Amino acid sequence: MKILFLNGPNLNLLGQRETGIYGQMTLAQIEGEVRKRATALGVDVEFRQSNLEGELVGWVQAAKGVFDAIVLNAAAYTHTSIALRDAIAAVKIPVVEVHLSNIHAREEFRHRSMIASVCKGQISGFGHFSYILGLEACVNANATSTRG
Ligand code: DQA
Repeated sequence: MKILFLNGPNLNLLGQRETGIYGQMTLAQIEGEVRKRATALGVDVEFRQSNLEGELVGWVQAAKGVFDAIVLNAAAYTHTSIALRDAIAAVKIPVVEVHLSNIHAREEFRHRSMIASVCKGQISGFGHFSYILGLEACVNANATSTRG
């Protein structure tokens, strides 16, 4: 099983950006934790980050036929991007939406996710562990859909 982890704008600044909200870990350190768990589960993972909406859209499109699932932290594009939403709907690969912070406990403009309704589910508020839970959710969904 191959899982693509996509990270949106400003997540390259994790570790130095609003650490009270997003924690002290860098994206590379989060990737390291995800890789440890992925190895234990026997799945391949690929990690990417972009500050550009179009690049994220292109990666979602290109994932079709290559990856079995996507774990997506769309960051601020979560709340604005119809383009990402349409790309997710178009590829029909299971996408798990993740957030480090609990977006529903923050400013009102973060409560709405443009992508939630086309995603398999949403994991929000568990810091870097949201990524591990996202990985587990993909593996579980895959096992369930291929069983019997
Ligand atoms: C975020 C939450 C978003 O509202 C915010 O714009 C981010 C990060 C999170 O992981 O908590 O950049 O997606």
